[in-house]
Amino acid sequence: MSGRLNDKVVVISGGASGIGAAHAEIFAREGAKVIIGDLQEEMGQDLVDTINQEGGDSVFIPLDVSKEESWNNIVTAAVSRYGKVTSLINNAGIGSGKDTESETVEGWDKCCAVNQTGVWLGMKVSIPEMLKAGGGSIVNISSVYGIIGSVGMIAYHASKGAVRLMTKAAALEYATKNIRINSVHPGIIETPLAMTMPEKYIEVFKGKTPMGRLVKWTPLSRQYFHDFI
Ligand SMILES: NC(=O)c1ccc[n+]([C@@H]2O[C@H](COP(=O)([O-])OP(=O)(O)OC[C@H]3O[C@@H](n4cnc5c(N)ncnc54)[C@H](O)[C@@H]3O)[C@@H](O)[C@H]2O)c1
Repeated sequence: MSGRLNDKVVVISGGASGIGAAHAEIFAREGAKVIIGDLQEEMGQDLVDTINQEGGDSVFIPLDVSKEESWNNIVTAAVSRYGKVTSLINNAGIGSGKDTESETVEGWDKCCAVNQTGVWLGMKVSIPEMLKAGGGSIVNISSVYGIIGSVGMIAYHASKGAVRLMTKAAALEYATKNIRINSVHPGIIETPLAMTMPEKYIEVFKGKTPMGRLVKWTPLSRQYFHDFI
């Protein structure tokens, strides 16, 4: 790989699984120091071990994105180990499988706490370190469902739509301070999260995808990248 991320220190939330794990692998292969934060400690540590065995430099720190003190802990750990934080992938997310009438306040609050509040907290806690480092880049993982509607996941849509506009607002706030903030809106990728959806919805998504299939992902196989590179 090119080493184009050699001087970067990236925090990746939800980096133990799925899209976040794929990000962690490609960032490490491009030379970045990678801090993986997740609730899933064993999976996160396994990935870190794999990355480090392959010559990367990575560490796992437990993270609950819905808790400010947990973000303070991971960013402090990143700075203490690598001296700075230059990059943040706000990737951790959960699904919600309820429509408008059947969603509960508890389910709504949980989805928004992780997908929406978690993204804001990640930016809030990381940006001061990026300013100290002279700049940085934040990528907030929203969803195609932060742009268009679908049925049966009202809280997910609310949270991912919020990520989209929160990203635009924060990007304007830091545009003159050398911090880029963007959101990404993937279609359906065959990760553990997507596979919690009812089969009937998955078939609908496949029908709406030009490829006629979901993006492939299997743990540590790099299959995810094979769809794009
Ligand atoms: N898979 C898809 O089709 C798809 C499509 C569009 C957007 N997304 C988004 O991509 C992101 C990654 O999803 P994925 O499909 O890789 O799912 P995944 O379930 O494989 O990975 C999500 C990770 O987030 C972690 N996580 C959940 N709650 C957390 C919390 N409170 N604190 C810290 N970590 C937490 C999980 O433990 C898991 O490791 C999510 O934000 C998701 O909404 C996924």
